[in-house]
Amino acid sequence: MSKTTINTLHKIKQNQEKFSVVTAYDATFAGLASTSGIDVLLVGDSLGMVLQGKDSTVPVTMEEMCYHTQAVKNGNQGSLLMVDMPFMSYATPEQAMANAAELMQAGAEILKLEGGAWLVDTVEMLSERGVPVCAHLGLTPQYVHKFGGYKVQGKEQAAAEQMLADAKAMEAAGADLILLECVPSELAKTLTESINIPVIGIGAGSDTTGQVLVCYDMLGMNSGHVPKFVKNFLIDGRNIQQAFAAFDQEVKSGDFPGPEHGFKA
Ligand code: KIV
Ligand code: NA
Repeated sequence: MSKTTINTLHKIKQNQEKFSVVTAYDATFAGLASTSGIDVLLVGDSLGMVLQGKDSTVPVTMEEMCYHTQAVKNGNQGSLLMVDMPFMSYATPEQAMANAAELMQAGAEILKLEGGAWLVDTVEMLSERGVPVCAHLGLTPQYVHKFGGYKVQGKEQAAAEQMLADAKAMEAAGADLILLECVPSELAKTLTESINIPVIGIGAGSDTTGQVLVCYDMLGMNSGHVPKFVKNFLIDGRNIQQAFAAFDQEVKSGDFPGPEHGFKA
């Protein structure tokens, strides 16, 4: 199997096809997912919640992200390896440069940052220095205390327009991907059609180019509240690899997500 790069993802968007993304935090899951057709592995800072049991992603550190990035890199068999920059590790462009260097040297191939227009200079500088960027918009979990909870974003006209402007600013600054979390499906469709770079969605309807789920969620490993956008693929006697493959196939055929997994404005 050939190596997936950002060029692969850009080509998928040009061809109006789809790609699949799952989170991975260790070498075993990375190996299983990357050999099941999954295009992108995300070392998400969701590890603070699903691995560590914390109540948000805010406490996650650079040291923890580097440790898990190395583990996932060791198991990965050709998927693109995306890594989250943790809370406040990119508060200034200078901090972003230094921390991006550590994550890239640990094995990251593209970094994900939460935020819009305020990140223009940072994204430009990272991009110029050889660090591809995914800009995460919508429900950005590192903002949970500022948002006052985990809520669907972009429901009001003004917020929707701001999100569109943020996505365009990120593309102009050199971002290679946008990720939209928990936004109305109609807004995600409009946004995806308004820019040339691929958009990955989670709780953002079926019209984005990529779809991402937390690996534990899509394997039905969930003790508390199950979000509306989650589907369990570990059913019908499948093993874990077959569940990843089913997710990949349903994303690429357009069967997942269905209307019931999305939000309305
Ligand atoms: O940390 C994470 O798992 C994420 C995805 C849910 C998009 O950022
Ligand atoms: Na994250």
